[in-house]
Order: sequence, then C-alpha cells, then structure tokens
Amino acid sequence: MNSNPIGVFDSGIGGLTAVKRLIQLLPNENIVYLGDTGRVPYGSRSRDTILKYARQNADFLLRLGIKAMIIACNTVSSTAFDDISRGASIPIFEVINPPSALAVRATNNGKIGVIGTKATVRSGAYRRAIESLDPSLEVQCAACPLFVPLAENGRTSPDDVAVMAITRDYLAPIVQFGADTVILGCTHYPLLRAAVARALPPGVTLIDSGAVTAEYAAGQLGALGLLSSSVDTGVRRYFVTDAAEDFESLAGAFLGADISGLAEQTSLE
Ligand code: DGL
Repeated sequence: MNSNPIGVFDSGIGGLTAVKRLIQLLPNENIVYLGDTGRVPYGSRSRDTILKYARQNADFLLRLGIKAMIIACNTVSSTAFDDISRGASIPIFEVINPPSALAVRATNNGKIGVIGTKATVRSGAYRRAIESLDPSLEVQCAACPLFVPLAENGRTSPDDVAVMAITRDYLAPIVQFGADTVILGCTHYPLLRAAVARALPPGVTLIDSGAVTAEYAAGQLGALGLLSSSVDTGVRRYFVTDAAEDFESLAGAFLGADISGLAEQTSLE
C-alpha cells in the first residue's frame, strides 16, 4: 500500500485523457497533474527543447514525492523517455508501447494508421514499436500539427467547418492507405475523436493512447503492490504553467467534473 500520488504530465490538457481513465479505474488514488500550458505545443519543437521541458516537468513531479509517473505525452515519450527514466527509482510509464500492442491485436487487415505531432512522427517510435511486435504489419503515420492548438482552444466539434476541413486534410493519407485501426498518437487527439471518426470510413478502430496507458499502468501498479488503500480519498491536484482559469474550464468540461479553484499556476524554470 502506498498513498503517495501518481504523477502525470503533458504539455497541456491532453494528458487528462490518461487521468480520466485513471480516475475511473483507481478512484482512491491521489493524482498530481502537470500541464505545461505556458509552453504548449511541444510537438513542433526541436529534440533539445523537448528534452529540456520534459526534464523540468519530471523533476517538478518528483519533488512532490510521487510513487509513479505517467508521461502522458507522446511527443515526450517518443523523444525523451530514455532520458527521464534512466536510473529512476519509481516506475515511469510512456504512452507509445501500450497503444501499439493493442493496435497489433486489433487490426484485421494488417494496416495501422498513426496520427501524432511532428516530433512523434519524426521519432519513428510508433513504427519501431509496431514492427518489433509484428514485422508483417504496415504502418502509415501522419502529423497533425494544428490539432493541439485546436484542442487547447476548445475547437473540437465535428460540426465546426474549420475543424472538419483540417481533419479531412490531415487524415487523407491514412484513408488512402486503408488502415482499419488508427492510433490517436497524441494525448490531445481524443478530444477531436468525433471529428477524426467522421473523416475516416465507418468501422475503423480508434485507439486512445492516454486511456490505454492508464489501463496498463493501473495493472502494473497493482502487480507491484503500489496502490492506495480502499479508504484513501483520491485527492487530485492540477498544476499549470499559465493562467489556471482557462485550464479549469476546459479540463472540467473534459473530465465531467467541476475543478474550479483546484488548479494552481506554477513555474518550472
Ligand atoms: N499531448 C501531447 C502529445 O501527446 C501534445 C504535444 C504538443 O504539445 O504538441 O504528443
């Protein structure tokens, strides 16, 4: 039993897709979330900048005494996981391998699409993860750099013509490729899930990298004996690096809970 918090971080609100699933699965766990909203998006930045931001985020959470960390950002997971996890004394989870394993099991036609940020696609991490599990599978990746700013600004509806035009444009190579399974390889993208689904042929399986990783992490923490006791209350704290109010309204809508007054602005530098 261990009631120290589970730390989760992302460049912005995207990592809440992991937190939402974590809360459903482990309601008694204490969770501390960090969204680096002052510096989002990460996905169009250089490797060195992503490494620097990732290190600062991880150090911030470690100082709060977390018992495990979920890097709920594909960009950081694909670029900085080795750097962050080297020599770590707590379990650290990334968001690339769990959804890759699920996609390999889910595909029927052997064609997996992956959408993510420029940095995630550039890293080749998904292609490596999928091909290491089954080299016979074909993988088509597509970068969707405007999705994160859209999600951070609450522009996600499939009835929004701008959102749909951008989504159809980004998804065109995946549609042409004929993927029957598509990994939402950025934790922000489930917020645009309805638009993505509309741009794809009916019946395509969509995989939420944050939620799948939360399921994986919950199982691992249980196996390691690191879960809280059933009488713990599940305290959640949210830290952001820009104004807390905007985050609270977007995050609250996404989590389906009023988190007014629960987010705190902090500095990482
Ligand atoms: N949620 C992050 C990811 O999974 C978004 C990265 C960004 O800030 O561009 O990649």
